[in-house]
Order: sequence, then C-alpha cells, then structure tokens
Amino acid sequence: MPESNRNLIARCFIRNRAAIVPSAILLFSLATLPAQPASPTSDDPAVNARVESLLKQMTLEEKIGQITQIGPSPIGPDNLKPEDLIRQGRAGSVLWTIDSAQIQRMQEIAVRESRLHIPLLFGYDVIHGYRNVFPVPLAMASSWDPGMVERAQAIAAHEASVSGINWTFGPMVDIARDARWGRIVEGAGEDPYLGAAIARAQVLGFQGPHLGTPGHIVGSVKHFAGYGAADGGRDYDSSYIPEELFRNVYLRPFQAAIDAGVGTVMSAYMDLNDVPASGNRWLLDDVLRRDMGFRGFVISDAWAVASLKVHGFARDAEDAAFLGLTAGVSMDMGSETYLHNVAKLVQDGRLPLSVLDEQVRQILAVKVRLGIFEHPFGDLAAKEKVLGDPEHRAFTRVVAQRSMVLLRNENGALPLSRSLKSIAVIGPIADSSDEIKGSWTAEQSRGVSVVEGLKNKLPNAHIEFVRGGDMQRLFPLPWDADEGRKATPLMPSAEMKQEVEKAVAAANRAEAVVLVLGERANMSGEAASRVSLTLPGNEQQLLEAVVATGKPVVLVLLNGRPLDVSWASEHVPAILEAWYPGAEGGNAIADVLLGDVNPGGKLPVSWPRATGQEPLYYNHNLTHAPEDDPGFTSRYADMTSTPLYPFGYGLSYTKFAFSNLTLDRNSIAASETLHVAVNVANVGGLAGDEVVQLYVHQRAGSASRPVRELKGFRRIALAPGEKQTIHFSLGRDELKFWSPRARAWVVEPETFDVWVGGDSRAPLHSEFAVTN
Ligand code: NOJ
Repeated sequence: MPESNRNLIARCFIRNRAAIVPSAILLFSLATLPAQPASPTSDDPAVNARVESLLKQMTLEEKIGQITQIGPSPIGPDNLKPEDLIRQGRAGSVLWTIDSAQIQRMQEIAVRESRLHIPLLFGYDVIHGYRNVFPVPLAMASSWDPGMVERAQAIAAHEASVSGINWTFGPMVDIARDARWGRIVEGAGEDPYLGAAIARAQVLGFQGPHLGTPGHIVGSVKHFAGYGAADGGRDYDSSYIPEELFRNVYLRPFQAAIDAGVGTVMSAYMDLNDVPASGNRWLLDDVLRRDMGFRGFVISDAWAVASLKVHGFARDAEDAAFLGLTAGVSMDMGSETYLHNVAKLVQDGRLPLSVLDEQVRQILAVKVRLGIFEHPFGDLAAKEKVLGDPEHRAFTRVVAQRSMVLLRNENGALPLSRSLKSIAVIGPIADSSDEIKGSWTAEQSRGVSVVEGLKNKLPNAHIEFVRGGDMQRLFPLPWDADEGRKATPLMPSAEMKQEVEKAVAAANRAEAVVLVLGERANMSGEAASRVSLTLPGNEQQLLEAVVATGKPVVLVLLNGRPLDVSWASEHVPAILEAWYPGAEGGNAIADVLLGDVNPGGKLPVSWPRATGQEPLYYNHNLTHAPEDDPGFTSRYADMTSTPLYPFGYGLSYTKFAFSNLTLDRNSIAASETLHVAVNVANVGGLAGDEVVQLYVHQRAGSASRPVRELKGFRRIALAPGEKQTIHFSLGRDELKFWSPRARAWVVEPETFDVWVGGDSRAPLHSEFAVTN
C-alpha cells in the first residue's frame, strides 16, 4: 500500500475512533489493525520457534503479564505484591530497583516459581555510568569521540549487568535546539549527524555488537520521537514538527540506534502534531517499524499509556489500553493500564487476540535474543570486583578531561601556573562532591569536588573555599517529595550578601580565583526546564563582585545546558565549560586548569547570547535577510542574531591550521562517493587535540536546505609541529535528504558547498556538483 494511503487510514482511524458506535469501531479497527507482524521478530528460526512455542502455552493472563512492567513496591489499592504478580506470570519486567539482592530474589521467583519460567527484564536509567559516574551525556557528546563514548557505556553496562540489571533506558537521542528544555543535558545536543554518531556508539557500548553479548545489556533508545521540540522548551509540552524536519533532523539519531541493533524503543510522553506519541500508530508502526526497520519492542515512557486519558485522547483507562496497544506500545511502563484493562478488551472482542500476541512475541523475542533464559541473573560474586575496578574509575576521569570545552582564554590566562601559592575557589557548588555528578545516577560512587581536585593537584598551595551565595529551583522536583527529599531552602538574601563580601575578601587575599558557577544538578534534566538561561540565584552578582577585585579570575561552569554568560565573555579572561563531569570531575577540572591536560572538546550546541535567541541552531535555512547582508547585520533589532559561541566551537592551549582542502573530483553521480582531504597542522607549542569538522550545503533544490550541515568529523591528536592529512567521504548517506516535494529520500543533481575547519564557521571552502 502506498505510504500516503497508509497514513490516511491511520489518521482516519485515530480521528474516528472516538465518535462511532462500538460495532462500527470494531469493524473499522479490525480492518486497519496489522494482520501480520510489521517485521518478523528475528531472522533466526530458532528464536522464532522458541517464541511461538512459549506463546502457544500462555494463558491470556500470562500474555498480559509480559506486556506489563511493574515497580518494586506493592501496587494499587489492592496492594498487589510484586513477588505475587511475578509468581503468577503477571509481570514481564520490573523497573526502578538497583537492589541486587531484591533483583536476584525476584528473578528467582520468575524463573523457578512461575509456570512458564520466563525471566524478567530489570530496567533502570543507566545513563552515564552505574557505580562509576561518567560525565552527563551532553558532556560526553562534547568529546566528539564516539569510540570513547562506546567504551564508557560498555563499562556502565558491565557494572549494571553483574548487578542484575539487564535493560537500560538509554540512549536518549532527542535533538534539542532549545536550551530552555531541561532534558538537553541527557542527549547529544542539536545536530543530527553528531547525534547519530553518539547514538550508535552508545547502543554498541550498552549492547555490544549484538544482543546477548556477555557483559552487556539491552538498550532503549528514547524518547520516540520529537520530545526535544517541546513548545517553548517547556517539559512535556506538545511538539509540532513538520514531516520533513521530523525525518531530516529528529529521526536521524533514532535511525542510527536502530541500525546499530537497539533492542527496544521508548515512546515519548508528548503530543506529536496533536497525537500523543504513545498512542500514535502512524509513528510507532508506519514510521518506526515499516520505514525505519525497527525490530524489537516498544516500551512506553512511565505512565504514558495512562496519560493518553490525561491528554484528552483516550476516553478512559480501557480506551487508553486499547489505543496504546494498537498503536504499537508493546509494554506499559509502570501504569498498570494494560494489567487491569486488556483482558476485558479481549473478552469483549474489541481487541483482537492477534494484536496482543504480536506485542508479546516482540517482547519474548528480545528476551530470547538477550540470552536471559540461559543467564537470568547478575553475577553477584563478581559484583564488587567489577564495580570496584580502578580502571573504571580512572576512565571516568579520562572521559571528563576529554569532554570539557574551553570557551575563552585571553592572553594565555590558562593554564594556571603550578607555582601559585594561594587560590580562592568560590561558588555555591564548588565544594560539592554530589552536584558534580549531575542527575541520573545509579549506585553513586563518591564524587570529587572542584575544591578537592585543586587541593589534590596543588597540595602545597593554600586553597580557600567560599560559597559566595546560593541558587535553587523555585519549584521542587515533583519526585523529591516522593523520595523523601526536602528541597533545601534558598539562603536568605542577607546571608547571600555576606557571602559575596566573604568571596571578595578571599579573592583579595589570593593570587588567583577559580570561580565555579552554573546550576545545581536538579536544575537540568527531567522536569527542569527554565524560562531564563541567566546564571541562577546570586551568581551574576557574585561574578561581577569577584571580577571587580581585579584578581586573575578563571570561570568554571558546572551545568547541563548553555547559560547566558555574555557578561563573563567580555570580562573574564578564561571560561572552561566542564558540564557535570562525573565522579572524578574535580580532578579532571584541575588537570585541565593546571595544563596537565589540553582541552579538546567542542560544543554540541549553539551557545546563545541571551535566552530570547532560543531555539538557536546552526543548521537553519538561509533567510531573506542573512547576517552577511550588509543591510541586515542581525535579524533582531536589539542584539545580533548569531550565537555567542557557535556549534562545534572549542579552544585549545595550542593552535591548529587547516590548509589544502582538496576534492578528488569536481562532480559525481548521485550513486557515487566523493573523497575530501584536508591538511591539519599543530602550529602551537603544545600537544593537543583538534576536532576536524566537515560541513556541506546544497545550493538549490526541491526544498530550501540548511545553510550548513555537519557531514563528517574526526578528533585527532597532534604533537607540536605535527601535520596530518584527514580524509572524508561524501556519498548518498551524507548528501540525501527527505524532500517534502518528492516525499522520499533524494540526492538531487545540484551544486554543493563544502567547508572544513575547527567549528561550524569553518572558512576553508570548495564546491562540487552532483550530476544525474
Ligand atoms: C521518565 C523519563 O522520561 C524516562 O526518560 C525514563 O527512562 C523513565 N522515566 C524511567 O525512569
């Protein structure tokens, strides 16, 4: 069936489902529900045979069990005990426990005491480390080093797997073009190409080369799809994304994760073009399975199936279960909507058993492929050895070093001299061993604060810490209360004033100041969108007061999103973006500040001058009034429309020069590949890393194309005076786009620009043509 007809039927199905008499609904739904699996669960006949044999033996209740994911505590008004549900075969998965003994106990019940001995999936958000905490994902993406990211996630997977966790809710690959959106910290930033490379690396790290690789776990790429485009950057708000933008930008990292073999996909919370993603059959069936070739199962985000009612999409819980399941949500996370409603839907004849069977099949196939029938348990005997492996901890430090981005360094302000005798370290979270790790941590190894890191590095210097003030969320996190955490009250303003005075006094006493500003960890992440990107609390005031002392000041940022540091960018000679660098963060920051490590990270996001510039992204279309038109230096009247720091930007303690951009041909056919080469030289005095970036632009065609698009990158290390020739290929994958006119992926016979350099403003240019 042509895609347009399928879409029409899907849309009619969704629009009509609420309005017609039940028998008409039944007829209509039966006609449009998939009769066959959208894609076979596996190419391996042995897997399929095992799945079919289990399916044949299962009761309706056991099938509903497989599509239900429960929490580790008693459930609902009847206080159903998870252990009882598991024993009765009424749960397929458990989330939110990292208690290895509890996991072991539950798994024993599932495989020894339940009738069919089907093992459970234990899901947890292993996002940036398990016990050994790596930098947050946005930071890891700033390394532009997919190999390193893969290794970090492999370590996290290994630690989780020996602990009994066999499923992570990651990678999060949502493209985020608006820094107000709190969850920007969990992804790889704004770019589909970098996002795809990091997505692939994470899937390979979590899962290994194939599902069931020993020491690995199954991943869940999320949140499918378009969550990052939430209106106004407000978390959970509706996204409105035209199909061409959806396919060209938002879906690309998901496609990379699917191509890397990700076993599960998590459906998102929000409405996508007015249809909730977790009840959106076009999205979960036509796009995900048929167009993108996903073979695995879909888990809803937590309570997203129940939320179909909250959205005003489902009439009631039963309708929500029907809509979720028929849209293609195989497993309901946490809401018990399937648990309590699917039996009635089947018994009433509204839900064909084949639809339920199909989802159960997908889940069983992942369990079989993961190998948990043979190896259901963690390896508790090895747990302490694996989680305590000093190499894991040491690698978190390397990842942190490689993730930092040097934003400003006037007159060699950095690195700091090792002969400094006194440093004032100032900032509300500068001495925190907790905030430095960022949100989403599991077992939580102890973190090293910035103060501690500097003391470790300079044991003979006098390091004086002053808090300098405070910052806080205005509204506590919704789950802080559930988890028994009280929001710390913001420091009273009189005390903040005194703190600023103390900070100024400490700065005056010291030879240099390391000022640590940013956000608390719970100010970015889920339910942590911000209306303003300014430095929170009294941090701007603190910054200005400390700079006014005239002492050499270095600003270190700990944060999960770009912040408005416009004032600092003019008044502070050195700014280091450390993000939340993880457990070894303080040591890694000291390594970079003192020059033991030369920073080489690059921004995975465009950095705004002011909040009002958001959404801000480099790969926008050319406009009627571009900035390089002398009549229109800005598209605002009150501020330049360019970013403060562009996508791909980051400084080094050394300098690099690009030359000799060469293409092997001036034109290629659409089916051919062009080879690009460029020379990169370290022309400074120190060894350092550069991220060589290649951008293209299609000059004309069936749609306006972005002014520049990243289509290649490589992080390289060069000794002083060393030169390397770097090669890139441009073929169909790099040159194709989804054309709204053709409603298909096309490579068009047009002229293309190509630039190579150290950030998205790269000036070194050439061009080529694609012929038919
Ligand atoms: C809700 C979040 O949106 C999702 O990212 C996470 O994986 C689940 N909760 C489970 O913790």
